[in-house]
This record gives sequence, C-alpha cells and structure tokens, in this order.
Amino acid sequence: MATPKELRAQGATPMVEMTDISIAFGGVKAVDQVSVDLHPGEVVGLLGHNGAGKSTLIKVLSGAYQMDSGEIRINGDKVEITNPRDARSHNIETIYQTLALADNLDAASNLFLGREITTPMGLVNDAAMEAECRKIMGRLNPNFRKFSEPVSALSGGQRQSVAIARAVYFNAKILIMDEPTAALGPHETQMVAELIQQLKAQGIGIFLIDHDVHAVMELCDRASVMKNGQLVGTVDIEDVTDDDLLSMIILGKNPAGVAA
Ligand SMILES: Nc1ncnc2c1ncn2[C@@H]1O[C@H](COP(=O)(O)OP(=O)(O)OP(=O)(O)O)[C@@H](O)[C@H]1O
Ligand SMILES: [Mg+2]
Repeated sequence: MATPKELRAQGATPMVEMTDISIAFGGVKAVDQVSVDLHPGEVVGLLGHNGAGKSTLIKVLSGAYQMDSGEIRINGDKVEITNPRDARSHNIETIYQTLALADNLDAASNLFLGREITTPMGLVNDAAMEAECRKIMGRLNPNFRKFSEPVSALSGGQRQSVAIARAVYFNAKILIMDEPTAALGPHETQMVAELIQQLKAQGIGIFLIDHDVHAVMELCDRASVMKNGQLVGTVDIEDVTDDDLLSMIILGKNPAGVAA
C-alpha cells in the first residue's frame, strides 16, 4: 500500500478535499476560505489557538454545521453534507471534544447507541451486541475487560477506545477526532496514540485536532495551522520542528524555507 506521502507525490485524488470553506456566526468569520485535504492512511493535524476555527471547520465535514460557501469532495466527487446522516453515508465518523457516550450504559450499548441490533421480533438484541463489542474491542484494545459496567466506570482512555470502536465498527473511512486526548493522562494518551496508528494502517484517514504540538509531531503526517478563522498553512511534519509549528500558531505565518 502506498504511503500517504507517496499518494500525494503521485497526485492521487484525496479522500477528502475541503476547498475555500467559509462560515460566519453573526458578523464573526469563524472559518474564512480554508482549504484542507486528506489521503487514505494519513493523519492531518489541525492546530491553532482557542477560537481559531478548528472545530467549526470539522463540524462542516461532520454535518453539524452548514458552510456559507465552499466545496467538499469525497474521493473526487462533489458532495452535499447538510446533516450528520449525510456525513455517515460517506463513511465520515466523528469523535467529539466531549465524548458523546451515555454514562449509564455499558460499552456494547454505547457502541450501538441509536443503531441497535434487533431480533426478528424487533427487540434489542443485547447478546448479539455484546458479542460484536467483544470482537471489536479484542482487536482494538485487547486489555479491555469492563464489558458489563456502565461506561461512567471506565477510565478516559477506555472511554476513548469505546468511541473509536463505535466509529470503526460502523465502517469509518474518514475519522474526525477533536482533541481525543484532552482529558487523558500520559498512559491513556499513549493508548490512543497506538489506536491511531492502527487506524492509519487500515487506510483510515484522520483529521486530528490537538493543542499539543508535540503530539501532532508524533502522530501526524501533515499539519494545517489556523489563526483567526484563516489557514496559516499546511506543512509536512518531516519538514518542520516543534518550534516551526509553534511560530505558525503564534505568528500566523509559515516558517522561513518551508513551503505552504
Ligand atoms: N455555534 C456557534 N455560534 C456562534 N459562534 C460560534 C459557534 N461555534 C463557534 N463559534 C465561534 O467561532 C469561532 C471559532 O470557534 P471554534 O470552536 O471553531 O474554535 P476552535 O479552534 O475549535 O477552538 P478551541 O481550541 O477552543 O476548541 C469562535 O470565535 C467561536 O466563538
Ligand atoms: Mg475546538
């Protein structure tokens, strides 16, 4: 399988192309003519200060917000994404900043929340859901044991793995992760990093919003930096240092000698 870098060098069609995306709230341009793209197996980091427009940009892709102008192409085809269902129909799944898990339900119920497996009689088939849940968790997070407890009893990393399992189970090809490690300790963050590597190896493309420049350097192939709703630039992680990324975030311009 070609690496994301080789795909880009070959001029392969990206799996996601967001072009000249703009969206304003009242008078505020939250996202102003931003273009980003994503290839299979690639992790593209989105960086920028609070309020830079990162979450708003990805909410346009996940169908939570509607853009005022711009274009989205999936595998080269122009698409209309006007709600989360449209996004899902293009195999786009989102893991939000605050995890949308139902605290009082167990892992299997959360995995299938809103998309339950039912018996021919139309009843929720708990046994089948737990069996499926054990299968996918066995693959993603083999140490996971807490199948019958409510997810409120899980650690942050375990909760994150349930959310990732949900996306993968429902065939995500394009995954949006908005600060997946924001509330996690170092060990848990490492676990999520390993999950991201696994998803990458399966050819899933990931937009990863993260405040931690170091994490972006470690996990991402490219980084797109935003400031005040605008795109500062997109760089290949191999071409930049932590300091380069920091100066892009703070000064809002590309480091000398690095192509946008
Ligand atoms: N639903 C909304 N209504 C009004 N303004 C909004 C809404 N969503 C976002 N904004 C505004 O859009 C701008 C960009 O916000 P956004 O949440 O995209 O930033 P962000 O880069 O994700 O920041 P953070 O790092 O804090 O999560 C901010 O000025 C924010 O106040
Ligand atoms: Mg945000």
